[in-house]
Amino acid sequence: MKQIVKAPYALKGRINPPGDKSISHRAVILNGIAAGDSRVGNFAQSADCLATVACMRSLGVEIESSKGGLVVRGAGERGLKEADDVLCAENSGTTMRLMAGLLAAQPFLSVITGDWSLRSRPMARVIQPLRLMGAQIWGRSGDSRAPLVIKGGNLHGISYTLPVASAQLKSALLLAALFAEGDTVIKEPVASRDHTERMLKTMGAKIEVKGDTITLSPGHLKAVDIAVPGDISSAAFWLVAGVIHSRANIRLSNVGINPTRSGIIDVLNTMGADIVVTNERMVSGEPVADLRVQSGQLSGMEIGGELIPRVIDEIPLIALAASVAQGKTVIRDAKELRVKESDRISNTVKELLKLGAEVQELPDGMIIKGGSKLRGAACESHGDHRLAMMLGIAGLVAEGGTEIDNAEAVNISYPRFWQDLTRLSAAKS
Ligand code: S3P
Repeated sequence: MKQIVKAPYALKGRINPPGDKSISHRAVILNGIAAGDSRVGNFAQSADCLATVACMRSLGVEIESSKGGLVVRGAGERGLKEADDVLCAENSGTTMRLMAGLLAAQPFLSVITGDWSLRSRPMARVIQPLRLMGAQIWGRSGDSRAPLVIKGGNLHGISYTLPVASAQLKSALLLAALFAEGDTVIKEPVASRDHTERMLKTMGAKIEVKGDTITLSPGHLKAVDIAVPGDISSAAFWLVAGVIHSRANIRLSNVGINPTRSGIIDVLNTMGADIVVTNERMVSGEPVADLRVQSGQLSGMEIGGELIPRVIDEIPLIALAASVAQGKTVIRDAKELRVKESDRISNTVKELLKLGAEVQELPDGMIIKGGSKLRGAACESHGDHRLAMMLGIAGLVAEGGTEIDNAEAVNISYPRFWQDLTRLSAAKS
């Protein structure tokens, strides 16, 4: 599907971003192995999270839809059963890696695959530490790519320092550790999103987080109802749209502002935006707030180091903001972007260049000159949901029409994205 976006006169309104993708995956997996029934409200009904639901159902967990959310009937610690077919994580790295950790601990055989993009992404990072825990797990291409074959069971705890700041890897090991003999100690080089740790705590797991070290003892989980907050990574598109469009005023309700995820607010405010955060509260163990953004003037900045995991999914969008900001922006330490749903460094640079931005590719980031006046062009999402949406936002400020090919990629995380864009664009003043 091709989507054409034109710059509207104004951009105004209120958005309820879809439920957080990371939290939705975890709510279904952890409640699926907990004792008892639970309700997951505002579950992200996007392709990625539905892939997790399908995998858990294939393993025998009953999951029903109910009033915009799900009811998960927990199978209990030893309640999963062998699936009678290959499991499919579709496009979802979170599904594949978290399921790998869970399956490594189950006393049966599993095979898990994904789409062409997921089958090209690195899996050795989960295979190696799970083997150290005693798992029998293999992958294609010298144990580095999916499909994965897992003959689980009989794990023991390990002490392990993550070689990359990856919440998917960390969560895979925590899931395996729940079933292992003895404690598992995980050290993170740089803090990554901590939704798994928070949810495990609310479900009664014996988990301790001290600085960069997490210790988890095996044990049962109790099912808990979870109200999933809106996804800050989806809200981020409107935050950038609001700042870079010259007549914008956008309110975003019920957005998760977990500090391991909220780097986009800090980056935009450092660049000169004025994002107002109100009504801060805790919901299901996660900080949540309402946000407001208005048109502003941005300046370039340097982005790297510990900030990167806090903005990892927002970097294509930051590159767009930097293209129209005054002055230079340098993004470094982000080579993980090359192994996301697509190579987000190369593809962001390629597509922004088509729109007239001045961007230069670095091995681990990019340099953006800034001050560009974007012009509409024929662009390509590369089948990557975040690039499709970033290009949609670029179209809101570019001169002339911007055409986005493979625009249906938004279904991976934000199926209503194009409707929300049309609605905000319809404002008359
Ligand atoms: C996610 C973690 C991040 C992020 C992805 C979702 C998660 O990946 O990019 O969109 O839910 O744990 P890594 O942990 O591999 O960096």
